[in-house]
Amino acid sequence: MISIKNLHKSYGTHEVLKGISLEVQKQEVVAIIGPSGSGKSSFIRTINGLETFQQGEIVVDGVRVLPDTYNQSLTKKVGMVFQSFNLFPHMSVIDNITLAPMEVKKAEKEKAIEQAKVLLKKVDLSAHAYKYPHQLSGGQQQRVAIARALALDPQVMLFDEVTSALDPEITHEVLNVMKDLAVSGMTMLVVTHEMNFAEKVADRVIFFDSGIIIEEGDPSLFFKNPATDRARSFLNQMA
Ligand SMILES: Nc1ncnc2c1ncn2[C@@H]1O[C@H](COP(=O)(O)OP(=O)(O)O)[C@@H](O)[C@H]1O
Ligand SMILES: [Mg+2]
Repeated sequence: MISIKNLHKSYGTHEVLKGISLEVQKQEVVAIIGPSGSGKSSFIRTINGLETFQQGEIVVDGVRVLPDTYNQSLTKKVGMVFQSFNLFPHMSVIDNITLAPMEVKKAEKEKAIEQAKVLLKKVDLSAHAYKYPHQLSGGQQQRVAIARALALDPQVMLFDEVTSALDPEITHEVLNVMKDLAVSGMTMLVVTHEMNFAEKVADRVIFFDSGIIIEEGDPSLFFKNPATDRARSFLNQMA
């Protein structure tokens, strides 16, 4: 579903991705962990065509991501959710969700609303369809952001530290939605500090440091016994 070969990315002269190769299978859930500044966000933004890159190849569901332009066709294939929910503050929940299907896919309003209601049920927010973002908790807003991303029927979902801004007691609401999505067969790339989620839900974990993949493997093996000192000391810090 995602094929990345020898990806290099720089901001100016600062190289932040230094030759990354990764194959992600359909329905696979891959957790990406690693220290702050190691290039995790740059990596997934590049996969989604939100950043340019200098060298290498990225193919998502058969579509090649162009190195130097924002690729519109990708917005329908790849859904992304960020740490900051980025909902449109002046629009109701249902309008936030139906906007992209109507604009990008030219969906009819009735159809878009029908689909949005199904998605709201999925993220357990049926009662909040006509509220505005500021009337919702952070966890609820983030679940709206997930529903909004799903509204374009993506083939792949990318998550970038989506629970980092949330109070610990409500992160589970969001993680449960992500877990359901994983179980339903969505292909997912998840940058996360939630080691328990990575261990329990991911099929594979990738440890990033300084713009390269240091180590990857089966989560239960990785967390029990990381092969590298860098991964080991990172996990000790997180514990
Ligand atoms: N838009 C940008 N312009 C310049 N440098 C950036 C930009 N975004 C990130 N960086 C730098 O790239 C490196 C990797 O950052 P990032 O991908 O955000 O890492 P992570 O998500 O692992 O914390 C950092 O040194 C960061 O300062
Ligand atoms: Mg980041």
